[in-house]
Amino acid sequence: MGLTGLFLIVFLIVHCSINSMIFFNDGGETFNHWGHFMGTNLIVRTMEIGLFAGLLLHIIQGLVVWAQNSKARPVKYKMNKASANSKWYSRSMGLLGTLLLMFLVLHIFHFWTPSRLGGIGDIRALEETTLATYNNQEALNLFAEMKLVFEDNLLIVVIYVLGVISLAWHLLHGFQSAFQTLGINHKRYTPIIKAAGIVFSIIVPLLFALMPVAFYMGWVK
Ligand code: HEM
Repeated sequence: MGLTGLFLIVFLIVHCSINSMIFFNDGGETFNHWGHFMGTNLIVRTMEIGLFAGLLLHIIQGLVVWAQNSKARPVKYKMNKASANSKWYSRSMGLLGTLLLMFLVLHIFHFWTPSRLGGIGDIRALEETTLATYNNQEALNLFAEMKLVFEDNLLIVVIYVLGVISLAWHLLHGFQSAFQTLGINHKRYTPIIKAAGIVFSIIVPLLFALMPVAFYMGWVK
């Protein structure tokens, strides 16, 4: 679980960095360039299979851990003051993960299916967005697609913001827990890993949240 978690953390760094290029406010030119590279590069496309497999494995591992934990203590503690020995988000990884999964299904239908499978998901979006031409090949203009999804859609913006808030809570526990699971527990380094985890769990979801908000507010055009 630690390994798949770390793999997903690396994916989030790449995804967030490329998406943040929309903040250059250059009509999506830089973002589309890199988005298109990620969508067509053979190595990246191969890794995409690993990404979906990793995501699935991470969910299955989570369910197994949850089942093992309930089996280990079928009779609940008579008195359990959980807040005294753990944070609520570490006890709610299942709930937060499920919220995240719901967000991801919607998210994949907004962007991944129109771009890869030609609009099985948000057909309205595909019909209205312009196609961009790269190396004489037509591809979905991902920046225009983002604008269309978020621009006049408060409900979608709210769902995305809630989705990344659950990501933040999920990471707040998951980041340092991944290192612990891999046996990296050191007097000097563990506090540094914990601090880095907190910074990561705030900065990355904040940048993600700013994306739909920026389109909705018209900060990015
Ligand atoms: C909130 C702001 C976000 C925006 C605007 C955004 C935008 C996008 C776009 C445009 C794509 C399509 C890329 C392509 O087709 O080449 C994509 C794919 C994807 N996103 Fe996001 N994303 C956001 C947040 C997230 C978060 C928080 C996660 C994970 C927790 C995530 C997971 C994914 C996955 C798994 C894919 C498919 C991967 C792939 O294309 O290979 N996204 N996103």
